[in-house]
Amino acid sequence: MASRSNSSMRIFLLFCFFTQCIYNAIVRAQQVPCYFIFGDSLADPGNNNNLITQAKANYQPYGVDFSAGPTGRFTNNRTLPDVIGQLLGFPEFIPPFANTAGKNITKGVNYASAVSGIRDETGKNQGDRVSLNKQLLNHLTTYFKIRQILGSGTATSQHFGKCIYVIITGNNDYINNYFMPNMYLTSRLYTPQQYADVLAAQYTAQLKVLYSLGARKVAVFGVGLIGSAPQMITRFGANSTNVSLTAQLFSNKLPGIVNNLNSLLPGAKFTFINVTGITITSPPAPGLNTTGTCCQLVQNLGTCVPGSTPCPNRSLYAFFDGFHPSDVVNAAFGQRAYTKQLATDASPYSIQQLSQLP
Ligand SMILES: *[C@@H]1O[C@H](CO)[C@@H](O)[C@H](O)[C@H]1NC(C)=O
Ligand SMILES: *[C@@H]1O[C@H](CO)[C@@H](O)[C@H](O)[C@H]1NC(C)=O
Ligand SMILES: *[C@@H]1O[C@H](CO)[C@@H](O)[C@H](O)[C@H]1NC(C)=O
Ligand SMILES: *[C@@H]1O[C@H](CO)[C@@H](O)[C@H](O)[C@H]1NC(C)=O
Ligand SMILES: *[C@@H]1O[C@H](CO)[C@@H](O)[C@H](O)[C@H]1NC(C)=O
Ligand SMILES: *[C@@H]1O[C@H](CO)[C@@H](O)[C@H](O)[C@H]1NC(C)=O
Ligand SMILES: *[C@@H]1O[C@H](CO)[C@@H](O)[C@H](O)[C@H]1NC(C)=O
Repeated sequence: MASRSNSSMRIFLLFCFFTQCIYNAIVRAQQVPCYFIFGDSLADPGNNNNLITQAKANYQPYGVDFSAGPTGRFTNNRTLPDVIGQLLGFPEFIPPFANTAGKNITKGVNYASAVSGIRDETGKNQGDRVSLNKQLLNHLTTYFKIRQILGSGTATSQHFGKCIYVIITGNNDYINNYFMPNMYLTSRLYTPQQYADVLAAQYTAQLKVLYSLGARKVAVFGVGLIGSAPQMITRFGANSTNVSLTAQLFSNKLPGIVNNLNSLLPGAKFTFINVTGITITSPPAPGLNTTGTCCQLVQNLGTCVPGSTPCPNRSLYAFFDGFHPSDVVNAAFGQRAYTKQLATDASPYSIQQLSQLP
């Protein structure tokens, strides 16, 4: 009996080695049926391309290492949600809402828009953008389309309940709002702690809207060390650390929000991704330049000069432009959020655990 099961085990393993395992190693099996993405330029795959705004990246040298070239992604290659999609086994990147007219929306849509934020006015200094509230409205449109495709309400809620949702926002509510006192009133209306409270309350309501549209497995990314971005150091000098500390007041509220939603809403599985924690516990690879930028910057804007030649080896710079990490950082960061290398990286769930939960 034992030897029989051993040999069938061996046969299974051989079979596994030659087919499924190799397949899994090269092209991971897709772990969830669908993946929806919300947020700002850290997640935008080209939703701003046809908007009237300065916040665009659909030109060279952006996308210099990306198979499709410049798409509107604010980096040389993959964004953070792109990396997470690959780790989830999606064979293709989730397309932008702006060009998903009806095709493949059941697998997911990316609504993220550069310079957008939790607050509607955030980012208006650069022109048009799709605010988080508008992104949720766009998701409502997708919801009705998918309901039509799947036929019944039950099938629709089952489908949406299996998807992974990633939200990366809040950065611009500081960079392109609170810390632009000439353009926005918020820093006069609210102290740093009051502003964190106001943002947290609005964000909580937005996360509840997402839940009401069937989302259950949601990864909520905190605001990171935005004051360390090269363009922020140019703009604020020694005060840039204060920008990070001020934004941290908001991020610190997210674990509590996530826990409250999980106990309040039946079936909810929200998780907090500790962007700052992952950053401060990741020693930069030897030789990685963490202060300069790979591309040449448009002054006062921090995006790449159109048509400029980027650094020859993008993997040697943490920042591709004045705000956005290069692929090498996104890849390492995505891995941490996905596997939860340290207990503090994600709480309560890693994205991998989220994908495996019922
Ligand atoms: C859309 O779906 C079709 C059929 O399932 C597939 O062949 C194609 O690769 C998908 N495209 C994208 C962008 O996911
Ligand atoms: C830094 O902050 C101080 C005090 O708020 C202010 O006087 C100074 O102008 C700021 N410097 C920069 C570069 O923003
Ligand atoms: C940090 O920034 C906040 C918000 O602008 C401001 O109220 C505070 O005075 C700043 N602190 C320092 C030490 O510059
Ligand atoms: C984020 O991670 C850091 C470093 O591991 C940790 O000190 C901090 O408590 C974490 N923050 C939250 C809100 O979990
Ligand atoms: C990082 O890159 C910038 C811009 O290319 C350069 O000026 C700076 O000297 C570099 N820093 C280090 C530590 O190599
Ligand atoms: C670019 O830099 C990375 C990191 O140091 C290194 O592994 C890689 O070999 C370099 N690529 C080229 C083409 O020099
Ligand atoms: C770009 O991303 C692909 C995966 O989609 C990866 O294989 C490649 O190494 C990346 N290149 C750079 C230079 O980041």
